[in-house]
Parts: sequence; C-alpha cells; structure tokens
Amino acid sequence: VLVFVSPLHAKAPQTAQIQTVLDDAYGKFIQKNPGKNADYIPALAKVDSAYFGLALVTHDGKVYTKGDVDQSFSIQSISKVFTLALAMEEKGSQTILDKVGVNATGLAFNSVTAIEQNPARSVNPLVNAGAMATVSLLDGNDDKTKWSALSGWYNTFANRKLSVLEDVYKSETDTNSHNRAIAELLVSYDRFYGDVDLNLDIYTRQCSVAVTAKDLAVMASVFANNGVHPLTGKRIMSSDNVARVLAVMTTAGLYEDSGQWAYQVGLPAKSGVGGGIIAVSPGQFAVAVFSPRLDAAGNSIRAQQAIDYIAEKLHANIF
Ligand code: DON
Repeated sequence: VLVFVSPLHAKAPQTAQIQTVLDDAYGKFIQKNPGKNADYIPALAKVDSAYFGLALVTHDGKVYTKGDVDQSFSIQSISKVFTLALAMEEKGSQTILDKVGVNATGLAFNSVTAIEQNPARSVNPLVNAGAMATVSLLDGNDDKTKWSALSGWYNTFANRKLSVLEDVYKSETDTNSHNRAIAELLVSYDRFYGDVDLNLDIYTRQCSVAVTAKDLAVMASVFANNGVHPLTGKRIMSSDNVARVLAVMTTAGLYEDSGQWAYQVGLPAKSGVGGGIIAVSPGQFAVAVFSPRLDAAGNSIRAQQAIDYIAEKLHANIF
C-alpha cells in the first residue's frame, strides 16, 4: 500500500516542539535588548522597552505563547496588510496593481524620493504613501462608514473587538505633517483617491489600533490558513488575495531590509514601529513578536531575531 504524505504534513512541527522553540527563542534574546523605541511619534518613545512577547497560531488554530503576550501596543504599519486585504476584497487585486503599485521601493517607509523617482508615481501598499492611497480606495465616503468597515474587518481577523490607543492616535495626529505632505504629493499625481483629511485621519487611526502579540498571531493566522479563520472556520478572504498579500509582504514587509529578511529568514512578514512583527508560514502557522526597540529601518530588533530563530527551528523558510 502506498501512503502519500504531502510535504506540508511531513514537516509539520509537533506541539511540544513549538512551545520549546518559543521558550528557547525567549531565553536566547531576552537579555540583550539593543536599538531604541521609535521617537518620531512621541507616545511610542514612552513605551517600556523591556516588553518581549511571542505568540504562534497554527493553521488549525492551536495557540502558543511566551512572555508579554497580553500587553497592548499600537499595531502601526502591520495594519497596512489588513487594510490591503480589505481593499483587495472590495476592489479586486488588479485595482491595487493599477492604482497603488506593488513593487519594492528599497527606500524608507516614509520616503518621498520613492514617489518621485518612479515614473508611474507607484509605491506599494506597505509603505506610508501606498498605505494611505489604499485607505483612500476603500468603500465609503464619510469617516463613520469607512472606519466602522475597517475596524470591523480588523476585529474579524482578531476574533475580538479591538480598540484605539487614544494617546498614540493623538500624538500621531499632532505630528503627521510628513504623512500629510506625502498624501498631497500623491494627489498632485492623481495617485490618491479621496479626501486627504478624511483618509489621513483613518490611516492615522488604523496605525493606533491596540493589539497584543497574541492578537497579531491570531490575525496573521488567517493568511497562514489561506483566508479561512483558524479559530472560527469562516472564510474571511479569497485564497487568491491571500497569495498576493503574502507576495507584497515578501518584497516590502520590512521596508528597505525586505531583501535581507527574505534571504535570511524566508518568510513573508510585516513590521510596525510600535515594535511588532508578524510572519507567515503558508499552510503552517503565523508568528507575532513584540519588542519595542527598533533598528535604523524601523524594524524591531528582538522580534527579527526571535522570528529568525523560530523559522529556522521549525524549518519554515518558504524558499
Ligand atoms: O505613519 C507612520 O509613520 C506610522 N503610523 C506607521 C509607520 C510604521 O509603522 C513604519 N514601520 N516600521
């Protein structure tokens, strides 16, 4: 009798092994805590930089945690992947390609040069310019309609009701003239698709959504399970769109360090300046790590180290 074992099942990690890998990653990187909190958003500079939380959710909904996994922090740029997912579901993936672009910029997340040097003024949905343009594409013409659809979408991924960190939202609103300038520049090139004030405000609020490392792993597990929520069994988005979200995460999830990340770790991922990073092993699991101190590109240092370690131990490199 021939028994066919698919490669995915053949290398599926065991329960005990996953917890051990998380525990070991925590132990290995807890002592040294290099880098510094984001400080261009004043509220982020004040977050306790000692936090270190690791969470992993498998494609079939098993949850593993270690460290500060119930501590809330702002989702920041990790929100961009979920907003992209909603825009794809509403408008189709071709619209994102045509109206935002999907190529890596190789430049900082808030780069104006990236817009200027590309003849199509294209960026991608995971840097500030493209993320704001993506928000401007979402259904709804007023703040209430748009925000309730977007926050409801995030809640569906998290499988609970998330809130906004008001101090972060206010701090960022008071200091977001650079993002406003980017949005206005996009307007000048017909690459922004709605009112600047309205969409800049929605974007700022989406970045201020409070999540825990556990929430992020649950949210990202939808991508690990092809668009079906592992905790509810409900389809949230099409598998075609999941594949495209993961593609953009691979090329642009860690900004100008995305190439290095793909080379070293080999998992689609997304970082935020709040100190979170999510990574997805398609068909297997999603992992999220929170540690506030960042490197020069704006990516959490310990979160990168921990995910690198976990991906290697669980043989998760997709390449
Ligand atoms: O718009 C901003 O600059 C922040 N709300 C989000 C940036 C961010 O998280 C970039 N991350 N590494």
